[in-house]
Amino acid sequence: MGGRARDITAGSDWPELARRLAGRVSVVVGAPSSGKSSLVAYAWRRLVAAGHRVARITGDPGQPAFGVPTCVAAAWGRSRRARALWFVGSPSPGGHLLQTVVGVGRLAACARRAGADTIVVDASGLVAGQVGRVLISHTLFAAGADAAVWVKRGDEKEDLQGLLEALGVEVFVTRSPLPRPRDMEERRAYREKLWAAHFASSAARKLDARRVLDPAWAPLAEAERPDAFSGAVAGLIGADGFCLGLGIVQSASRNDVVIETAVRKTLEPASVRIARCDAAEVIA
Ligand SMILES: Nc1ncnc2c1ncn2[C@@H]1O[C@H](COP(=O)(O)OP(=O)(O)OP(=O)(O)O)[C@@H](O)[C@H]1O
Ligand SMILES: [Mg+2]
Repeated sequence: MGGRARDITAGSDWPELARRLAGRVSVVVGAPSSGKSSLVAYAWRRLVAAGHRVARITGDPGQPAFGVPTCVAAAWGRSRRARALWFVGSPSPGGHLLQTVVGVGRLAACARRAGADTIVVDASGLVAGQVGRVLISHTLFAAGADAAVWVKRGDEKEDLQGLLEALGVEVFVTRSPLPRPRDMEERRAYREKLWAAHFASSAARKLDARRVLDPAWAPLAEAERPDAFSGAVAGLIGADGFCLGLGIVQSASRNDVVIETAVRKTLEPASVRIARCDAAEVIA
């Protein structure tokens, strides 16, 4: 979250830190609620005001700063709206490291092609243990980062500075002046709000089952019981691999699948990916 830029109180070192991120690709890491999204929103505002073409990538499919849960997303220009979405298929990156990391990489490349001179990745709060270290490292590699910012909370077990330095990027360590832990309910309500906005004006669409992959990445047309996926979240994927928008499977057979989605009829998905989760789990 770390929402609207006007609500953010900057740390005393943040103006200089934002300046140092100009023209670079950086990844902002830190434990949950440490202030990563607040710092990214602050840096974005400062750098845009200074005339930079800044892209933000939200690398957390559970609490994305913009876009919709189950996706990672990129925004550029002056708008906070997502300009590109990548379907991860789950709100938790832990079991979806490949999807999350490939998504961040593709979004960074997309932002660069769109003319961004500065890219800031707002990484997920998953920093603990080997999974956290693998995720942080590969997020940096995928984005092509040359800098990392550790937003330190002060009470965390992980010392990320050593890891980041060993990865060979320039490392900045900072703290947010006003970190506020968000509890499960606040996080759930935030996911629900983004979810409802994404599905506003949705309608049923029938799609050819030959373009659909089941949660095990097998073609739905070959599934024993395609109807077993009713209620599941689905990503409608464009020819370039980016997500056109989400859907919810209403019914599925070997021939076709009916999906409730707000993706416009004029946008034809090249592929549809059914996730392992259903909508109730995402907003639970
Ligand atoms: N500098 C700040 N100014 C104002 N509020 C802040 C600041 N830093 C953190 N907060 C508040 O603390 C909460 C957590 O901050 P934020 O969302 O930026 O953390 P995060 O590290 O991105 O968390 P998550 O890991 O859940 O994505 C937010 O509700 C935010 O409003
Ligand atoms: Mg955040």
